[in-house]
This record gives sequence, C-alpha cells and structure tokens, in this order.
Amino acid sequence: MADLLKLGVLISGNGSNLQSIIDHIEKGSLKAVIKIVISNNPEAFGITRAKKHGINITVLNNRDFKSKEDFDSELIKILKKNKVELVILAGFTRILTPGFLQAFPQKIMNIHPALLPSFPGLHGQKQALDYGVKFSGCTVHFVDEGTDTGPIVIQGVVHVSDDDTVEGLAGRILKEEHRIYPQAIQFYAEGRLEIKDRKVRIKSIDKKLAKAMHNPPLSGF
Ligand code: GRF
Repeated sequence: MADLLKLGVLISGNGSNLQSIIDHIEKGSLKAVIKIVISNNPEAFGITRAKKHGINITVLNNRDFKSKEDFDSELIKILKKNKVELVILAGFTRILTPGFLQAFPQKIMNIHPALLPSFPGLHGQKQALDYGVKFSGCTVHFVDEGTDTGPIVIQGVVHVSDDDTVEGLAGRILKEEHRIYPQAIQFYAEGRLEIKDRKVRIKSIDKKLAKAMHNPPLSGF
C-alpha cells in the first residue's frame, strides 16, 4: 500500500471540517493520516472530536507567546516533528506569518465559506447575503501571503434564497465544505494537483462540465 499522506490540522473552534476529514479517512475515501491536530484555543470543541478518535492533539495558546513569529515557529516545530506533508487550516483563525508559509511552500490548504475572490476575510456568509448574491458557496485554496487569495482547488456552489438567514446559508455552505475539503485533500494525496502561476490544474479529471445554473430558474428562456 502506498504511504498515507501525513496531515497536520490546525483548528480554533467547532472542528466540523476536521470531523469530516476524520470520517472520510475512517471510511477509506481519503487516503491520509492525521498526525497531529493543533488548536490555538483551549476551549475548541474540535479538541474533543480529535480525542474521541484517538488523534494526537496539542493546544498551543497564542496568548502564551510574545509575538506571532514565536507562536508560528513553535507551530512549525511541532508540525515538522510529526513529519507533516500537508497543513490543513480548518477554521483556524490566526493569520500565518511569512516564515510559516516558507516552511510549507504550497503545502497549506484552507477552506473559506464563500466563492472567492468574492467575500474574503471574516463572515463570508453574511457578506454574501448582505450583498444580495443569488449563489454563494465555499472554496478550498492553497494559502499564499494574502487573505484568502491563494490558488483555488475546488469550489462548491449553493443557492441563496430571498428569505435566507445567515445561519441557514452558513449551514448549507458547511455541508458542501464537508464534501469538497476531503476531496481536495484526496486530489493532493493522489499527486493530481499542479500549481502553475495562480492556477491549479487537476490531472485526469472528467472534462465534462455541468450545465449552467440559474437562480431563480429561467422560465422558458
Ligand atoms: C468554516 O465555515 C470554514 O469555512 C471557515 O471556518 C469555519 C470552520 O468551521 N474557515 P469548523 O470549525 O470546521 O466547524
């Protein structure tokens, strides 16, 4: 059997994306192993999730560090010690320093709850709703030095309805997050992602595109 891709997952909160990654690994659809989960928040529910599955967990409270650089160099140390090959940001609320990016070049993925490049930063779901878009969704991307600006791997689209609430939309987006993140990691594990300039090519993908989507549906056009 080929070696499993070694993941390090960074969390700050609920950890539902972490859970989805764990579930796909346990089902065998994601050929990876979580070597370490690191939470900067001692209260994160994701810690309980990791423990329940016997996964190594470290709490690294950023408040215990003098600077962002000190915090990140400790993160790097732990991830390297665990021989992590791909760093997964799963609701991790800290901005990484250039030193961290250099330590894992093109080896850091993030998921964002909007269709980038629209609505980067905090509260992507609310931003989309306030703007009045008819579709929103989620984006898995590699991390670069900008905020949510790195090369895009997969996007999932959800409809926005007239009477949507932030909670309702966020819940539907989250369901898609739980599908696209494990798939993106599996593509990586299979060595199928090729980054050129800022574009990610996925090798041997079915080239047939889905038909266009409309919201509201067109009537007779
Ligand atoms: C998700 O909405 C993700 O897109 C964003 O942070 C949230 C994390 O949720 N980056 P969870 O902790 O995985 O449940």
